[in-house]
Amino acid sequence: MEAIECIKGRRSIREFKPDTVSPQVIEEIVDVARFAPSWKNTQISRYVALTGDAKKKLADVSFAAWQGNSNIVNNSPVTVVLTYVKNRSGFERDGSFSTSKEDRWQNFDCGIAAEAFCLAAYEKGLGSVILGIFDETEVAKAINLPEDRGVAAIIALGYPVNHPDAPKRKEVSELLTFMS
Ligand SMILES: Cc1cc2nc3c(=O)[nH]c(=O)nc-3n(C[C@H](O)[C@H](O)[C@H](O)COP(=O)(O)O)c2cc1C
Repeated sequence: MEAIECIKGRRSIREFKPDTVSPQVIEEIVDVARFAPSWKNTQISRYVALTGDAKKKLADVSFAAWQGNSNIVNNSPVTVVLTYVKNRSGFERDGSFSTSKEDRWQNFDCGIAAEAFCLAAYEKGLGSVILGIFDETEVAKAINLPEDRGVAAIIALGYPVNHPDAPKRKEVSELLTFMS
């Protein structure tokens, strides 16, 4: 698949077929996502793939703010918690921040990785949706996340039931400014 076709064609998928996603396919997706760029090539993104009881526990405790996300996770055959190694991306070796964005490069790196993950999944015929509404503390507890790791996002994954139309995009003229 051409890169532009892949980027424009990927949609957020919230309804999945019951078919399982093999661990090998998930490994192949992470094999692509690991080539995403990162702060000083620190590669802080870590993927925790949940099925069965582990996924149900995540769905039960993480989405008090919006039940819709709980339904999406329950409906997905596999859900990935995108976590990161803290205090690397955007940090100097002595632990101080490298820039005025302080620790925000951690989530920036995970955002790039998440898009690479979702595009690789789409190229393999899978659908995905990035979930941002969740209780970070509850998610960390549900997956026994060590103290030195943070939660960036949750990605529900599976074979799509349908391919929705793209939600309306802003025009290039609104997004782009040239300066000279
Ligand atoms: C950072 C981020 C957080 C998001 N959080 C949620 C969410 O909590 N629940 C949900 O259903 N979709 C969520 N989405 C999906 C967006 O709603 C979706 O990407 C947007 O509507 C554009 O649709 P498209 O992905 O099909 O192009 C999120 C997307 C991003 C990038």
